[in-house]
Amino acid sequence: MDLFAGPGGLDVAAEKLGIATAGVEWDPAACTTRRAAGLETWEGDVRRFGPSDFPDADVLAGGPPCQTFTVAGTGAGRRALDDVLAFVERIIAREDREEILKDLSKLEDERTGLVLEPLRWALEAIDERDKPYRAIVLEQVPAVLPVWEAYARALEGEGYSVDCGLLRTEAFGVPQTRKRAVLIARMGGDSVTLPSPTHRTYRKGVSRESGDSTLSPWRTMGEVLDRESPFSVISNYGTGGDPKARGRRGSWEPSATVTGKISRNRVVGLDGEELDRFSPSEAGRLQTFPADYPWSGRDVGQQIGNAVPPRLAMHVLSAAFGWAPPSEEKLSTLRTWKDKEPASAVPDGNSEAVAAYV
Ligand SMILES: C[S@@+](CC[C@H](N)C(=O)[O-])C[C@H]1O[C@@H](n2cnc3c(N)ncnc32)[C@H](O)[C@@H]1O
Repeated sequence: MDLFAGPGGLDVAAEKLGIATAGVEWDPAACTTRRAAGLETWEGDVRRFGPSDFPDADVLAGGPPCQTFTVAGTGAGRRALDDVLAFVERIIAREDREEILKDLSKLEDERTGLVLEPLRWALEAIDERDKPYRAIVLEQVPAVLPVWEAYARALEGEGYSVDCGLLRTEAFGVPQTRKRAVLIARMGGDSVTLPSPTHRTYRKGVSRESGDSTLSPWRTMGEVLDRESPFSVISNYGTGGDPKARGRRGSWEPSATVTGKISRNRVVGLDGEELDRFSPSEAGRLQTFPADYPWSGRDVGQQIGNAVPPRLAMHVLSAAFGWAPPSEEKLSTLRTWKDKEPASAVPDGNSEAVAAYV
């Protein structure tokens, strides 16, 4: 059961591990991609559903949107965090839902309350459905870690074993540096632990061959894209237009964090020649989506930037279930998607999607 399911980063990973998924997502564009990919999709607001609507689901996953936290460090981000931590305590104390909803509606930014939804689902599955989720997996930007820590205390009180912390995507073979706060929980039994890195951590200027010899070198953009010659990517993002401040990564390095603005990044040859910008398939591959993933609908760049890299998600889900880490053979199934039967025809679509993306 995937809440805030986006275009399906977590679901692609689960399906590749042989687990059937259903996702709730309200963005029509992300739903178009999901349906084109054949993923079961409930289009709507997560707050309008609950565990009893999906009686068979026994794993809960989610990446609630957290725009208000990404400004952590600013007064607004800090206030949002304090509000959420106070609401976590009220939800654990089983305070009346109507009262909580009334107070949530008074928050400066109503989206702040969305990060509480997975906790509501987890507790309602226990209290109302009488069937707790067997495992829980949550993912968000690093600023959300204190919320996951509060969740961990709450879930431990309900009989879950929990681990949470920050994971780096390149340390799991994703050709991209991206840090995420991840929580995994399993009901009863042995303790759970976050997955262990399989690849080295990237540091600018440090060779991929140096470092822990038990780990593989980090993967590069060049390894996963089929460009003919080496290139550099110049990020056009968040710099107020100062060219000197712009991030630059070479095809011999992992990509910088793929954001919703990926289509604005310039790609240049080593002689400075302007090359084609990343296509949706290329941007998706930097996130370890299959090359043929049927990106559709509006704002494909944003959908791609929002997603959990499926390769990381395969590691995280396996750790949550207490399974061995996915084998390289299993991970390599992420190269293609076309063997999955689409739920509905791919809309005229992909050319439209490419236009919207650029
Ligand atoms: C960070 S993304 C999740 C990405 C997803 N986990 C993946 O791997 O592809 C958050 C998603 O939540 C969706 N969303 C935001 N508010 C929502 C709500 N109230 N109900 C359902 N979906 C919502 C957004 O449209 C966005 O796609």
